[in-house]
Amino acid sequence: MVKLDRILLRANLWLLSAVSLYAFALFLFATPWVQRQALFSHAAKWPLWANFSDPVRYGLAPYKTYTFSLTTEDNHTLGAWHVLPDAYYHTYTPYPLLPRSPLPPSAQADAFAQRPTVIYLHGNAASRAARYRVSLYSALSTRLNVNVVTIDYRGFGENSGKPSQQGLTRDARAAWDWVTEEMGVDRNRVVLMGQSLGTGVVSQLAAELEIEGIRPRGIVLVAAFESLEELLSTYTVFKFLPLIRPLRLFPGLEKWYLSHLIDRFDSHLALRDVSCPILLMHAKDDGDIPYTHSVHLFDALLDPLLPQRPFSTLEEETMSEGQKAEWERNDEERRGMRSSLVEEITVDGFATIRSFDRPEGRGPVFFLNTLYGGHNLISSHEGAMDVMGRVMDLGIGESA
Ligand SMILES: *[C@@H]1O[C@H](CO)[C@@H](O)[C@H](O)[C@H]1NC(C)=O
Ligand SMILES: *[C@@H]1O[C@H](CO)[C@@H](O)[C@H](O)[C@H]1NC(C)=O
Repeated sequence: MVKLDRILLRANLWLLSAVSLYAFALFLFATPWVQRQALFSHAAKWPLWANFSDPVRYGLAPYKTYTFSLTTEDNHTLGAWHVLPDAYYHTYTPYPLLPRSPLPPSAQADAFAQRPTVIYLHGNAASRAARYRVSLYSALSTRLNVNVVTIDYRGFGENSGKPSQQGLTRDARAAWDWVTEEMGVDRNRVVLMGQSLGTGVVSQLAAELEIEGIRPRGIVLVAAFESLEELLSTYTVFKFLPLIRPLRLFPGLEKWYLSHLIDRFDSHLALRDVSCPILLMHAKDDGDIPYTHSVHLFDALLDPLLPQRPFSTLEEETMSEGQKAEWERNDEERRGMRSSLVEEITVDGFATIRSFDRPEGRGPVFFLNTLYGGHNLISSHEGAMDVMGRVMDLGIGESA
């Protein structure tokens, strides 16, 4: 008896410690500093001691990249790169020699005038010199032959400052203004592309531009998430430890806790009014952000084109027979409308592509759902690049 008591006591102590540890972790995460460190992970300065003046070191051809800095509206200085389109770069580099001195001063402006531009907004952690990001600039500038402009946000790379939703959106705006105003590139020749956290940034910027009546060529959202709240409530640490979900044991606690997020990155809301073409890309084997986030964003963009729901919420128990019948009729109509609007093609072994057009001159919405590519490598997949080139009408195959 005594022995059993002792075992129970010990088990209780273990349980108590685990619960306190969890509560402590949740408490820590509720503090702004910890929350932002976790969200932006900008302290992870990868590659270490990077020399941002030397993009060649990270895999880009000699003199193919211009290094420069931008100033944001609130006076932050950001490191940036402009990677030239390959076809254009090669006009200055007769085979088999590599250029041994900088390209002529007019080259940068010429490249912007001749080929479209992709402004790339990266995800959290590491910098613009990270290997998998450089592979993407390389793929964009060779396969799609576009100009690539990439920045590090405040607090990332060599930049000082503290990241926040508003701060990152301003940083992206500085890149947009530099390309379209300082370099004078036609807005209709600029694509905004974001990856992971960067999709939140692009969505915020696109919404801001929309309000000002400014329309980019399109936006590309790679491995997007609906909102930070939604992401956290589905997030698992090391793919099995649910972070926030245990709070659901207590009604209302999860919602209350998530209402304390400082940065919300609500792309669901931000994208609602964006009228340029939108391409979502998400791999089925993405282990960090489940692809269902992109499915939901696609569905939310489609929703206004479907017959409206008869009631605001579906409360199975409280619906009368008549209401149930009405709901089912409505469901039927929505399914019919959906299948007449949404075109779906499957490319065996690669992906499913769903798309629909939007009325009133709003651009189409595409969703490329690939089988492979994980969280980081999907966008540099050749098939994904080609889809992006066609959807954004980047004139693949045209020479410089
Ligand atoms: C960084 O790269 C530039 C350009 O190649 C070079 O001039 C400079 O010496 C490098 N700095 C360091 C600390 O290696
Ligand atoms: C912007 O920052 C620079 C130094 O980083 C400083 O010299 C300048 O006065 C600042 N300008 C404004 C308007 O705050």
